[in-house]
Amino acid sequence: MARLDLTELSGPRLDEADKRFVWHPYTQMSEWERSDNRVIVRGEGFYLVDSEGRRYLDGTASMWCNVWGHGPNEVVDAMRDQLSKLQHSTLFGLASGPSTALAEKLVKLAKGMDRVFYTDNGSTAIEAAMKMALQYWRNRGKPRKEFVSLERGYHGDTAGAMSVGYIEQFFGAYRPILKKVHRVPGPLLYKSGFEDERDLVEHCLEQTEKTLRKLRGKCAALVMESGAQIAGGVVIYPDRYQKKMSELCEKHDTLLILDEIATGFGRLGNMTEYTAQRSKPDIVCFGKALTAGYFPLAVALARKEVYDAFLGKYSENKHLYHGHTFTGHPVGCAAALANLELYEKRNLMQQIKDNSQYLQSRMREFEEIGIVADVRHKGLLAGIELARNGKPLYLKKERFGQFVARESLRMGVHLRTLGNIMVVIPPLAIDRNSLEKLVDTHLELAKKAEKL
Ligand SMILES: Cc1ncc(COP(=O)(O)O)c(C=O)c1O
Repeated sequence: MARLDLTELSGPRLDEADKRFVWHPYTQMSEWERSDNRVIVRGEGFYLVDSEGRRYLDGTASMWCNVWGHGPNEVVDAMRDQLSKLQHSTLFGLASGPSTALAEKLVKLAKGMDRVFYTDNGSTAIEAAMKMALQYWRNRGKPRKEFVSLERGYHGDTAGAMSVGYIEQFFGAYRPILKKVHRVPGPLLYKSGFEDERDLVEHCLEQTEKTLRKLRGKCAALVMESGAQIAGGVVIYPDRYQKKMSELCEKHDTLLILDEIATGFGRLGNMTEYTAQRSKPDIVCFGKALTAGYFPLAVALARKEVYDAFLGKYSENKHLYHGHTFTGHPVGCAAALANLELYEKRNLMQQIKDNSQYLQSRMREFEEIGIVADVRHKGLLAGIELARNGKPLYLKKERFGQFVARESLRMGVHLRTLGNIMVVIPPLAIDRNSLEKLVDTHLELAKKAEKL
């Protein structure tokens, strides 16, 4: 029998395939189809390389998740090794080596947490956390159905996550499937009308307390990002704020769900942000950097008291009805384990602290540009908000974000703004030279935009 020629089945070469068929996320496709879009075919260190051999510094950390850059390293070796042993096996009724070992490691790392629930992206980790909160109260015979969340919060794109993270521009069209949630103000000083950050924090706390008091006995959980909100506009929490929010939840007997999907594992300079903020979540979610960005894996960790509420006889129906086909995927768990080992081996947190100081020292240069209205920084995250005459920045010919996307690629860097906010969010292990180039590119683009 003639052997099947696999090359015939495999279609065109990757870099020659027709680009039209992919519907890109958060992208106006009519704009995209007209633009000179690039096809990334490989990675080299902190650079992405396109089908024509052009190199771009990964200035978005591949949507905020990349740690070590691209190419071979110990994490990739661990994934390859795992693939050769066991590709996938379910956690429904069976355990697996990598998911067991990773859970043990995470529980040691995350103070106060007792159990690890696996999902395959950040949105569904939040979804699982919300379901845990609802069922926790039901299992205790005190059903509750309300949620409180922050203005400008973002927690992902599934229905529950959209409900608690409502940003009008993103989610307005999906309102019919969203749950109504109680919104409290978040601590962004810029344009808040407050002069002093302490007064703003007081205001936020007062409003939150008012809401929690009103919902006493009804609120399942307060959901908020830990340390900073990123998608909602790079809002860095002032000192004390998160700790006080945590205390309010305790005082008003409400579960606290903290979302560290984008901020945990070093983004803000701390391995776990909630401990640095001296807050006490009942459930905390991690994703993104957990696998260094090499595999879709996320987790919702729960305190013992939460977990215990799910124990009982089968007939009591207290168990958690949540699970995905790829929950706790062995290759993802192996990646996460190797990644966390590499954090220790390479002393990544110290490198982040040093680079964070450097980033802070460069922020002054932005403040000197006329259209820069506010600069916010912590760890390896910075937001540079642009405005003209007090109004969001408009360029004469195009959206600011479109200008940055195109011009940054021309300059050999991939950048994406959040509306009028330039976001510095490099791969966590970025070397100093690449970080310098990243900041220089942002500066140059802000200066160019000022003239347009
Ligand atoms: C704070 C936060 N939570 C949740 C998510 C959703 O994660 P994913 O995109 O993996 O679903 C994101 C994504 O950017 C995020 O920034």
